[in-house]
Amino acid sequence: MSQLVLITGGAGFIGSHLADELLDHGLRVRVLDNLALQVHGEGGRRPDYLDPAVELIQGDICDPQAVRGALRGVDAVYHFASAVGVGQSMYEVVHYTRVNNIGTAVLLEALIENPVEQLIVASSMSLYGEGLYRTAGGEVRMVGERSLEQLRRGDWDWRDEDGTALQPVPTPESKVPALASVYALSKLDQERLCLMIGRAYGMKAVALRFFNAYGPRQALSNPYTGVLAIFASRLLNDSAPRIFEDGWQQRDFVSVYDIARACRLALQTPAAAGQVFNVGSGTSYTVREIAERLADVTGREHLRPEITGKYRVGDIRHCYADISKAREVLGYAPRVKLDEGLAELAAWLEGQAAVDRVAEASAELDARGLAL
Ligand SMILES: NC(=O)c1ccc[n+]([C@@H]2O[C@H](COP(=O)([O-])OP(=O)(O)OC[C@H]3O[C@@H](n4cnc5c(N)ncnc54)[C@H](O)[C@@H]3O)[C@@H](O)[C@H]2O)c1
Repeated sequence: MSQLVLITGGAGFIGSHLADELLDHGLRVRVLDNLALQVHGEGGRRPDYLDPAVELIQGDICDPQAVRGALRGVDAVYHFASAVGVGQSMYEVVHYTRVNNIGTAVLLEALIENPVEQLIVASSMSLYGEGLYRTAGGEVRMVGERSLEQLRRGDWDWRDEDGTALQPVPTPESKVPALASVYALSKLDQERLCLMIGRAYGMKAVALRFFNAYGPRQALSNPYTGVLAIFASRLLNDSAPRIFEDGWQQRDFVSVYDIARACRLALQTPAAAGQVFNVGSGTSYTVREIAERLADVTGREHLRPEITGKYRVGDIRHCYADISKAREVLGYAPRVKLDEGLAELAAWLEGQAAVDRVAEASAELDARGLAL
């Protein structure tokens, strides 16, 4: 019999693509997912995109009984179940801590009773805070958080002593985490807990730090997740994407298909055990460029992004991945080019009804002084 793999949170965006990838490679897949309202809408039914071969158990990661049941007969676990949203985590502190931190603890106690061979946890680039920078003289620098005073002035960039803007460089796994949100803290916690318990109980554990994922099935109505899904839901509702700061901030957008492949490689590479890997595209794009390209591929060229000059407390200026470790150890190489990925996303978007809840989400942040 082929390996049976459990994906917690596997009815979501990345987990469902991973399920496809594993099924394609002859593995059996079970999912434990509570079909959270913010992601799956009212009534939480099995998403149409989830392959019929996936065994879906509807249950909460914080429920020890549901977790124990889901682990029966399982050889490997991908732990993806999470509340996902940086801004929202700054006021729904209990919810994020419950689902992400306690949920992971519940899973690990069940695994201590019934260890599996492998445990792979979804971590996030958000735990880096700012990426790495280089001065004009070539010195690599870690920076902290921009002061409120600087943001109020609209002076978005990091500068050296002479006032010259620092240049962002790829961020490797060795960069010290700089946690600026409850979400980022919870992802570091999930990562450390899984590696620690994995080691103590002889389970090969791997943590994968995903950068900004994009692709079909991303919950468009969830205003707290990926920037591309947020822009897409605006465009589909004939509104211009709204951009914080000046739009020149850089991020690493990685296709969900590349992420799914990296996840499978982590399972199939014994040398990955006990390690942390960045999973990104290794290329940086500005948020402004992404918004424009998405408007172009969705046939909404007239909707040029609106540069708001607003900012969010805790937002970073630039961060993109150094993926050399994943290349060397996992044999990972991103295959999806941004234009191809966006074109496919656009084709999928045509069939989607997206409720634009950006205004609502912004109001929540505004009311708490988290977006200014
Ligand atoms: N999307 C990204 O860009 C990105 C980047 C970095 C890390 N990640 C991480 O990757 C993982 C998957 O993210 P995604 O983008 O697919 O998000 P998603 O919201 O689409 O999927 C998460 C899934 O978890 C489920 N879930 C939520 N609370 C749960 C609970 N209490 N019990 C059981 N299931 C629960 C949801 O119903 C959903 O199906 C998460 O751990 C996330 O933190 C995502």
